[in-house]
Amino acid sequence: MTSATKITAPELRARKGRGPKIAAVTAYDATFARLLEEGGADVLLVGDSLGMVVQGQPNTLSVTLDEIIYHGRAVARGSTRAHLVGDMPFMSYQTGVVPALEAAGRMLKEGAFEAVKLEGGALYAEHVRALVNAGIPVMGHLGLLPQSVHAMGGFKVQGRTEAAAERLLADARALEAAGAYSLVLEAIPSEVARHVTEAISIPTIGIGAGPHCDGQVLVCYDLLGMYGELEPKFVKRFGEVGKAVVQATRAYVDEVERGEFPAPEHSFGTPKEQKPAVEHTGAKPVVAGTPPSYGPASDES
Ligand code: KIV
Repeated sequence: MTSATKITAPELRARKGRGPKIAAVTAYDATFARLLEEGGADVLLVGDSLGMVVQGQPNTLSVTLDEIIYHGRAVARGSTRAHLVGDMPFMSYQTGVVPALEAAGRMLKEGAFEAVKLEGGALYAEHVRALVNAGIPVMGHLGLLPQSVHAMGGFKVQGRTEAAAERLLADARALEAAGAYSLVLEAIPSEVARHVTEAISIPTIGIGAGPHCDGQVLVCYDLLGMYGELEPKFVKRFGEVGKAVVQATRAYVDEVERGEFPAPEHSFGTPKEQKPAVEHTGAKPVVAGTPPSYGPASDES
């Protein structure tokens, strides 16, 4: 369901138990933000997954605060309605409450974010409380914590033992008590996610956490079918955009090679009264007031 007005942290929190379920998706640039929002996404998350899907890194650890801010600004330019959340990068908050406040402050001031997300439970309750007290909405993140990939021994399903599930529930309660307005649950068994979802008053947003969460989040390249063949079990491809990109590029390359593109309708004429500079100098013809090639839709501008 889409609404015309801006979606806020309090509104998302109020959906708990009432619905509709929260549909979140990652975004990293203005064009995707516009399209994903047009498709009805409630939340656009500039995830530190950008390290992997945009930068080609093996994990999220190298992503910097400046990079998150840069992508946040781009996403904000493409969006009017969705709630904008930014991931706090590795080591921007783990070192203390004050660094966390400084980093999150920059994300809202310079990155145009409306909330921040950070990974971890009770250990970070004090950080979350300080951010919330400073007026910064916080989305928690439990289960598989990509920033702890080395400690976890890889990208592995979490919360599978009774003790681990109990710890997860205690962490969820600690984040709720600290004032988080929502909570991502990543790669945990469906029944554990159901238990946590029923036990806390803030919405849970699942990724690989089954159908009982109050919302879902996916990496946009995954849901669009753009990120290779090696996808996690929990990903569903809702489109085959990757294949469409390859197909369109092949068609373009073929037409360029055959000399069919650009056709006359894609080319600019020369005004009759103006002699093209190229005749004399070999330079490209310059027509006063003509923007770069990706600008005008016709030569009537
Ligand atoms: O970095 C990210 O994209 C995330 C989501 C997958 C939850 O944290």
